[in-house]
Amino acid sequence: MDLAHSPVLLKDSIDYLVTNKDGIYFEGTLGFGGHTEEIYNRLSKKGTVVSTDVDLNAFNYCKKKFKDKDRIKLYNFNFSFVDVIAKIESLEFFDGILVDLGVSSFQLDNAAAGFSYSVDSALDLRLDKSLKRTAADFINDEPEDRIADVIYQFGEEKNSRKIAYQISLARSKRRVESTDELKKIISSVTNPKYLTKTLSRVFQALRIYVNDELGVLKSFLNNSLPVLRKGGRLVVISYHSLEDRIVKEFFKYENLSCVCPPDSPICNCGKVKSLDILTKKPIIPTESEILINKRARSAKFRVAERL
Ligand SMILES: C[S@@+](CC[C@H](N)C(=O)[O-])C[C@H]1O[C@@H](n2cnc3c(N)ncnc32)[C@H](O)[C@@H]1O
Repeated sequence: MDLAHSPVLLKDSIDYLVTNKDGIYFEGTLGFGGHTEEIYNRLSKKGTVVSTDVDLNAFNYCKKKFKDKDRIKLYNFNFSFVDVIAKIESLEFFDGILVDLGVSSFQLDNAAAGFSYSVDSALDLRLDKSLKRTAADFINDEPEDRIADVIYQFGEEKNSRKIAYQISLARSKRRVESTDELKKIISSVTNPKYLTKTLSRVFQALRIYVNDELGVLKSFLNNSLPVLRKGGRLVVISYHSLEDRIVKEFFKYENLSCVCPPDSPICNCGKVKSLDILTKKPIIPTESEILINKRARSAKFRVAERL
């Protein structure tokens, strides 16, 4: 694995997260273990970190890395199962919960992982290799309109229709199976000036779709509330506006104590305010962090406290 990976927004996010040195913390996006290790280092000998990654490579890497640390417990589960993991650990609550969404530099830079358009590999894009459908299955088997919608919705790419049309032409001759083949198709209808941006948008869209990343994020947020101790914090580091919007809306909704229509004479909705928002605006990296770590460029995090 590429050991040059540096965890994004590390100090600030963990400063917010850890409020009890003796507590039990959950990290849903283990990766290279950067955030997990920082949480561990802030805890006393009574504290524990429970971390998971859906990617088996990341899990195996961290199993080795943390083999001597018995207060770091590792899972190879989707983080949306935060409540299930609490049950397995016989815990009622975590003292804080963090996710650092998206993919790691290892996944992006490693050809075998198949996440990047900059290296030729099978067009896969599954974080969890037990999922049935790869990105290649999607672009070869779905109707052209559906492909255009996914590229537009999850990649915010204006040329989605043109790209989907070219994909449908190419696949009528033979299946599109590799990242290079898809890259060629996209290049054939994209101004070279915008090619890099378009490629990242299309690959991002396919990755979000194949892994149902937005659906998973929503489930995770819902499932994390019942297992977050009162006073505990939920920290979410995101990398694009689609993720950030979901987090912002969830925090806003959970911050409301009433959702009755404005003209309702009395409140009968039963809504309970369950989160206090600690970051009115998301926290973003400093210029110097972005200079050192280009993955930090689009990162931001929000924090809310369980009431
Ligand atoms: C940005 S990296 C995390 C880096 C990590 N915080 C570190 O400091 O090394 C995101 C990680 O989350 C994992 N991941 C993404 N979606 C996931 C999910 N739904 N459940 C569990 N892990 C997930 C990815 O496999 C990847 O390893």
